[in-house]
Amino acid sequence: MTNNTITIAVDGPAASGKGTLSRRLARHFGLNYLDTGSLYRAVALIALNDNILLDDETALSHVAGSLSDDVLSDPRLREPGVGEAASKIASLIPVRETLLRYQRDRAETAPGAVLDGRDIGTVVCPEADVKLFVTASSEVRAERRYKELLSKGQDVTYDDIFAEIERRDARDSSRSAAPLIKAVDAHLLDTTNLDIERALDAAVYLVNQAIKA
Ligand code: DC
Repeated sequence: MTNNTITIAVDGPAASGKGTLSRRLARHFGLNYLDTGSLYRAVALIALNDNILLDDETALSHVAGSLSDDVLSDPRLREPGVGEAASKIASLIPVRETLLRYQRDRAETAPGAVLDGRDIGTVVCPEADVKLFVTASSEVRAERRYKELLSKGQDVTYDDIFAEIERRDARDSSRSAAPLIKAVDAHLLDTTNLDIERALDAAVYLVNQAIKA
């Protein structure tokens, strides 16, 4: 706990359910919530719309420094093509550094926050009060994402979603800048066989243990 704020770091691979879990955790503990993937997705969406090359570090870090609330709530952020472009952009150090300041500011705003992403426990908030690493099998993650996108009326196939998730995980885990990796002090939460309510119960228990300690 820093300056009376609480920080909960939630990391994990694509479609692991960390977003839903983090939003519910934030509500449970009365904290702010920041979906850090949406920052990378917003930079990607603007790049795709404005024909900015996905390796143009200067232009993209400028975009990262001026994200509006409108783009951060654009429903197109959830499209698979935007996730793929976000994963490519996420390997650029200047973009990560620009977004790092924004993320830390949000974490330090009272009463504190749940942040979910790939490098929250390792880079963004290494001093977080609690760290969770949420995962599930690739098949289960693809199935959940497939159903989510179908329910939103998107024209997708399970096979395409599965392939996209595997590609993104490989890229996010192997990049040199802040790769997806479980922090040594993070609690592993495998939700392959857990529904959201049971995953939430497990996460609330871990957070309560850590806050009491
Ligand atoms: O969590 P998500 O699937 O919405 O994230 C989209 C991409 O953004 C992900 O493939 C990698 C990148 N990302 C990142 O590099 N670091 C974060 N903290 C969050 C997301």
